[in-house]
Amino acid sequence: MRISEIRVRGFRNLSETALHPTPGVNVIYGENAQGKTNLIEAVWMCSGMKSFRGAKEPEMPAFGSKQAQICLRYDDGSRMNDIELKIENRRSAVLNGIPLSSPAGLIGKFRAVVFYPSFLSIVQAGPQGRRRFIDAAICQLYPAFAKLLAEYGRLLRQRGALLKDIRMESSLLDMLDVLDLRLAECAEQLTARRLQYLEALTPFADEIYGGISSGREKISFRYIRKGADGDRPYGELLRENRRTDILNRSTGVGPHRDDVEICINGVSARVYGSQGQQRSCALALKLGEASVIRDLTGSSPVTLLDDVMSELDAGRQNYILNHIGDRQVFITCCDPDAVGRLTGGMRVSVRGGVLTEE
Ligand SMILES: Nc1ncnc2c1ncn2[C@@H]1O[C@H](COP(=O)(O)OP(=O)(O)OP(=O)(O)O)[C@@H](O)[C@H]1O
Ligand SMILES: [Mg+2]
Repeated sequence: MRISEIRVRGFRNLSETALHPTPGVNVIYGENAQGKTNLIEAVWMCSGMKSFRGAKEPEMPAFGSKQAQICLRYDDGSRMNDIELKIENRRSAVLNGIPLSSPAGLIGKFRAVVFYPSFLSIVQAGPQGRRRFIDAAICQLYPAFAKLLAEYGRLLRQRGALLKDIRMESSLLDMLDVLDLRLAECAEQLTARRLQYLEALTPFADEIYGGISSGREKISFRYIRKGADGDRPYGELLRENRRTDILNRSTGVGPHRDDVEICINGVSARVYGSQGQQRSCALALKLGEASVIRDLTGSSPVTLLDDVMSELDAGRQNYILNHIGDRQVFITCCDPDAVGRLTGGMRVSVRGGVLTEE
């Protein structure tokens, strides 16, 4: 994916402009609150996903105006495409002149990955964020996985309800048997897909993390099945845990409880990693996610990096600015020293919402 033109009108604080980014690295720089993240968000909205800031549509048009418009011209590897996105109380999208019934129709047409500051919690916080990351990444590639995930969630809720009632009515045990059969099947399939994804991600993340740390550190992942040592079938685990599950009225084993441990040089990055190492891990995951997409679809997603530079030393910044330009990248930055490290690519300054190519 290569964007050749971005036009925005009435989007947050951005002035009406047309920007012509380079195919490699584009550094968006400026002081705080000038509109850097707004530009990243404008591009991201064209992926058909919701805002990574958790923002709602009515917040996006510039204060005092009703509508925001974002136009993107990009090459997807086989042809040029034009997206026209209008944002009012809701979004509406036109792709190559044809109105889409929903903005979600853009998903998979214009592909992007985004790193934003709170994505760091993938390393620092509990397992939920890591499960969500891996599941979302797989959903992007295999729509059937989303269906499986939804079925698993539904079965878990049904099981939860059964576990509550079963104490009163033991005849429900037969129903639990039937439900557990399908639940175990789904659990096996979900876990297999996750393991397969991690296997695909590992060499890419490893290469990127090696580059960021100048070969001094190694990243690795370990899938942790909660309550299970080894590869015992879920059917067995569910049976074994049934009594505890009835007591707790919830299902204690399964992919909804699993975790992915992120390690640097063999030890947990969450427990032992420094700020810079944790940030580097999160970045390697995002860039690795993009590489997996390139590997499977033949085209690199546009990579949006909001605020990745802070807390990184000169060597790590240099790698990000000058060694990942095999894909189109947009990086925001407010540190002039870091901007000075860019040897190729393009700089765009942002001041009071005015974008200037340099
Ligand atoms: N709908 C809107 N209309 C007008 N201005 C808005 C709107 N939404 C946000 N803004 C303004 O846009 C400004 C720039 O926001 P943005 O998040 O892009 O800053 P930034 O350059 O990324 O800053 P930082 O370096 O602090 O992250 C903010 O001051 C905010 O008040
Ligand atoms: Mg910002």
